[in-house]
Amino acid sequence: MTYRSGRHFLQIPGPTNVPDRILRAIDMPTMDHRGPEFGKMGLEILAGLREVFQTRQPVVIYPASGTGAWEAALVNTLSPGDRVLMFETGQFATLWSKMAGRLGLKVEIVPTDWRRGVDPVLVEAKLKEDREHAIRAVCVVHNETSTGVTSRIAAIRAAIDAAGHPALYMVDTISSLASIDYRHDEWGVDVTVAGSQKGLMLPPGLSFNGVGEKALAASKSAKLPKSYWGWEEIVAANKNGFFPYTPATNLLYGLREALAMLREEGLQNVFARHARHAEATRRAVRAWGLEIVCAVPAEYSNSLTAILMPQGHDADALRKIILEAYDMSLGTGLGKLAGKIFRIGHLGDFNDLALAGTLAGVEMGLSLAGVPHQKGGVQAAMDYLGECARSGDARKAA
Ligand SMILES: Cc1ncc(COP(=O)(O)O)c(C=O)c1O
Repeated sequence: MTYRSGRHFLQIPGPTNVPDRILRAIDMPTMDHRGPEFGKMGLEILAGLREVFQTRQPVVIYPASGTGAWEAALVNTLSPGDRVLMFETGQFATLWSKMAGRLGLKVEIVPTDWRRGVDPVLVEAKLKEDREHAIRAVCVVHNETSTGVTSRIAAIRAAIDAAGHPALYMVDTISSLASIDYRHDEWGVDVTVAGSQKGLMLPPGLSFNGVGEKALAASKSAKLPKSYWGWEEIVAANKNGFFPYTPATNLLYGLREALAMLREEGLQNVFARHARHAEATRRAVRAWGLEIVCAVPAEYSNSLTAILMPQGHDADALRKIILEAYDMSLGTGLGKLAGKIFRIGHLGDFNDLALAGTLAGVEMGLSLAGVPHQKGGVQAAMDYLGECARSGDARKAA
């Protein structure tokens, strides 16, 4: 390897850039996870997490990637053969549904064109059809990281209620938590799934279940086999800030720091910053004359923007050129979008100049790769960022 000067731009939609404050916090001697100091830290972290999940209910931490938290949500609450309603909004929703099938659940997956979120009207209709209440859970990915599309979590809750259906509501917030407004309690979510490596600005390795009362009650009688993932023992040990097994102590140091940073900035300001960067990015994409994957403006993601390549041009060839020439990683197209799209991550520890640099790398890359486009994307983004700064509004109305 030859040394490349300057910092790598890690603009994939997670893992995100880990701020120095968090790296420094992790770089501390590992402490006794049964000692008094740990218990204090554990309680502080669990309280801070509840603020970010916007909940008063328990949040369970696993030393696992997000996939582990998906599994935990299902095995804690459901029994073999239970019906679950899922929506194929993209690659991550597809993977979650495949996991559910492998665990012995009967999955009904509603297809989409991967360019829109879950339709609340359809949720209501599907649940009304289920007169016997055989569907035990509705699972939705809040921010589909493979497409840059969000689903309207509160509206889907309202649809479940309008159908008068008792199914559990489980939401994957892996690429939305601490980036896009998300309210576990107010939106009546039973299980929230989240991960460390995106809006929380940590390295990969931790994942979470926000657990509502109804889900906790369901876990008492759920029959899918569970041991390591079981909530009961963890929630009991967490009451004093401890864990029933060896926790990922140093990642927890990082999490404590991340929670402090989010509190210092203010969660609403964090959301406004993500909204500003997303809008600036979309303005750049439109100025380039390229197409955004998300077809429904109300469902645009504030964490990432997925962009369709013009016909006959390979997204991965563009990404390779940008990596080699400008030392920037962009997200690849996943599943059926492989080669057709690239994704710009604009979540986590990020600011206006980092975004301008990111978009400059894309615009220069488009030229270098000979991808047909118009110039001026970076300028359009800068104009918007300037308007926001002048008006003092972190996110000027789009
Ligand atoms: C929305 C979503 N769900 C689930 C996952 C899977 O998480 P992990 O790769 O951490 O296991 C990801 C990963 O990017 C994701 O973006």
